[in-house]
Parts: sequence; structure tokens; C-alpha cells
Amino acid sequence: MSKGNDIKRIGVFTSGGDAPGMNAAVRAVVRTASYHNLHVYGIACGYEGMIEGNITRLETKDVSNIIHRGGTILRTARSAEFRTPEGRLHAYENIVAHDIDGLIAIGGNGTFTGAKFFGEEFGIPIIGIPGTIDNDLYGSDYTIGFDTAVNTAIEAVDRIRDTADSHSRLFFVEVMGRDSGYIALKAGIGSGSGKIFMPEIHTSAEDLFKALKKAKKRKKLFSLMIVAEGNKSGGAQALSELVQEKFPEYEPRVTIIGHLQRGGAPTCMDRVLASRLGFHAVEGLLRGEKAAMCGVVNNKIRFTSFEDAITKSKPMNKDLLRMAEILAM
Ligand code: F6P
Repeated sequence: MSKGNDIKRIGVFTSGGDAPGMNAAVRAVVRTASYHNLHVYGIACGYEGMIEGNITRLETKDVSNIIHRGGTILRTARSAEFRTPEGRLHAYENIVAHDIDGLIAIGGNGTFTGAKFFGEEFGIPIIGIPGTIDNDLYGSDYTIGFDTAVNTAIEAVDRIRDTADSHSRLFFVEVMGRDSGYIALKAGIGSGSGKIFMPEIHTSAEDLFKALKKAKKRKKLFSLMIVAEGNKSGGAQALSELVQEKFPEYEPRVTIIGHLQRGGAPTCMDRVLASRLGFHAVEGLLRGEKAAMCGVVNNKIRFTSFEDAITKSKPMNKDLLRMAEILAM
């Protein structure tokens, strides 16, 4: 393949919240780079490791036996120091000390915001790979880790359903998503839940009460409601308290799935997505792509500028929302 620039040594790091499939992406980056005779350096703990100079050579054998592992072998962090010009300068000095001339950043919104600044300040080409369970990045239909997180969530909801059914109880199950309702929407549809509460859609207490009254009329004895943690009218606990006050006979219960959703072996879909994105990120860097996230749109690889990836919001699929409402009756 023709090289758009003269990249010989690349650094790869994971940053922000870990996501299942990050290791598969690291493996793909290292192996694709080796195929193109590049040297790869693993930067530990994201931007923290860059600032501290925690950088080591990664060879093909170092990424054996990791495709199936959750978490990230490179470890991860959210770095406050990297938000300062001094922090970024330290990081750049360490990049120069290792003769690294291109970077692959695996993470979410915060990671790409840092990458955008860093690339602009020091002129180093950087490609991002979307790795977050939240699936909230513009420029990729899916992010690495989302499919695994959703499958973990529905497995948990299925178990709760057994208890909800046996006791005729109302459960509020809270899934992750500080600013995004993608996990709630997919887990809600996939688990056949009742109402789905998410940050992007306003659902009032009245809407909730109406849904409960409707269920009661149909003699539906138990209900499962899925709530994204960032839901604007309150998380699972707050909604449960509202119901407890208005309809004490329900005795609602709350389950917060929490970080269980972030761990575990990635699904096949996440492993394949991560492999594709890792592979194309390296080839894109070699072709001269920079300051862009490598994503997948309509099953095709697409590079989206960091600017767009972090500032534009991915629209919720209106058909899915409508369908979820109808099927939840
Ligand atoms: O961004 C991924 C995510 O899991 C969000 O869904 C959640 O709000 C946040 O990270 C939790 O972050 P932390 O692990 O730092 O508590």
C-alpha cells in the first residue's frame, strides 16, 4: 500500500472507561503495524502513562491470547493533568523521546477531545478508535464494548424477570449511560421491558404513572422498567420512590447493574468490530489520515474528524423508539 507519510513508530493507548473488546483492538493494531514493518509502543494508562513516560515496545507475541479478554491490558485512566498545557508538553516530550510519529487512541469522547488538542498543538497524526460501552459517538454506528454491555444487561434483566414474575413485582433496573440512552434502549427492547427511560427523551412522572395504570387495567401483574443512569427525571431509585409514594401497593424494587456491564469477555460482534477498526486505523494512519476517528457506518469503514465525533450527537433511531413504545404495552 502507498504510504501517505513516513510513519515508522506508532504508539497505542486506551483511555477513559474500559470496554470489552479494547484488547482485540490493541491486538489488531499491533499485528497490522507489524505487517507493515512498523514498531509499536504500548502506552500504559492512557494520557497518564504518556505524561509519566510509561511506554514499552509491543511485539506480535505480546498480544497473543488477549482477543477474548475484557478490560484492557494497557490499563486505562482519566487524566486531569493532560487537560493542562504543561501536562501535554510532558506527554509530547515522552513521545519524542521514543521517536513515535503516529498515535492510535482507543476510547470515547474525552479521549478524542484530548487527542484533538494534542494533535493540533504538536502536529502529531492521531487516529481514534471508538471504545466505550455507551455507543454515543457520532461517526460510528457501534462502539467497541456496546454489544457486550447490552448482552450482559439483558442477561441480568432476564434473571430479575424471574423474581418479578414470581412475586408480581415492579422492578426498576438501572443500566449505565451517564449521557446516553443507547444501552437502555437496546437492553429494554431485547429484554422485553416496559417503559424505557433515557437522557435523550423526556419522560415525566405522569407518563410513568399512566403506563402503570395501563398495565394494571390489563391485569399485568409485574413490570420491568429500564432506566439509563443519566435519565433526566431521575435514576432507578428516584423513580421507584415516586411510585412508592403514589402506588404503595406496588412495593417497587431497584436493581443497579452498574460496572458489571463493563467487564467480561467481549461478544463475537465486539471482537470483530474491534479487529476491523484496529486494522483500518493503522492503514488509515499510513495513508495520511489524521485527527479522525475510524468508525463503521452502514457496515463500511468511515473516518470522521475528531471535531465532528466529539461535537455532533448521534441521533436516536426514531423507528426503534416508536417500536419500543408499542411493544412495551
Ligand atoms: O463511559 C462509560 C461509562 O461506563 C458510563 O456509562 C458511566 O456513566 C461511566 O463510564 C462511569 O464511569 P466510572 O467508571 O468512572 O464511574
